[in-house]
Amino acid sequence: LNPPQPGGALHHRGVLITAGPTREPLDPVRFLTNRSSGKMGFALAAACAAAGAEVTLVAGPVNLPTPRGVTRIDVETAAQMHEAVLEQVPEAEVFIATAAVADYRTADVAASKIKKSADRQQLELVRNTDILADVARRYPGLFTVGFAAETDDLKGYARGKLEAKRLDMIAANWVGEGRGFDTDDNALWVAWADGEESLAPAPKTALARSLVTLIAQRLDARRS
Ligand code: CTP
Ligand code: CA
Repeated sequence: LNPPQPGGALHHRGVLITAGPTREPLDPVRFLTNRSSGKMGFALAAACAAAGAEVTLVAGPVNLPTPRGVTRIDVETAAQMHEAVLEQVPEAEVFIATAAVADYRTADVAASKIKKSADRQQLELVRNTDILADVARRYPGLFTVGFAAETDDLKGYARGKLEAKRLDMIAANWVGEGRGFDTDDNALWVAWADGEESLAPAPKTALARSLVTLIAQRLDARRS
């Protein structure tokens, strides 16, 4: 593991990261969730800490060790993740949203176990707040980085999210057919308002370091 760099690219900068999936309960024994191992977010937390940043990681349920020097807050639902992020974000200069947040929660969580009866069962879902878009709107001075996992038109959807959520940077990757999820390797297409860069397939730890270098460069470019 890399020790923190005193002269690192993110020396003393506050970085807040979301990672992993969220879980939206249906009843005491069931939940809706997203496919996400949390590996990319945890690798980024480690890379930011190694670059000298003060890192806070808000993590959904994942089975990963906390990277050295990183403060970790465990949450379960999207609402809990949103609340933890709003609590921590005033300390941050950079916000990186890698979490696969559930877009919907159930309209009502059943107090007791839902019993099977009819052959068809309907679930009423309510949209969750977009944590990243909310944070970018409330803190225009914050450097915000979003992720986009897409199965088609990767660049089009990713640029759309960059603009719609008013982000400083978006990192996009292909998913499906054994790509992206629960793997140690990945490739990223990174874009910002007036530029882009493709990061070739590599272990997530190496990709995280490359992304941290890009973030530090764009952060410095924005300041000067
Ligand atoms: N995100 C978030 N809060 C949500 C949904 C998404 O913070 N409720 C963040 C993710 O962490 C990611 C970015 O928004 O950084 C894009 O997430 P994604 O699911 O790709 O995009 P959505 O805007 O939810 O659109 P869709 O799922 O329809 O593609
Ligand atoms: Ca989504």
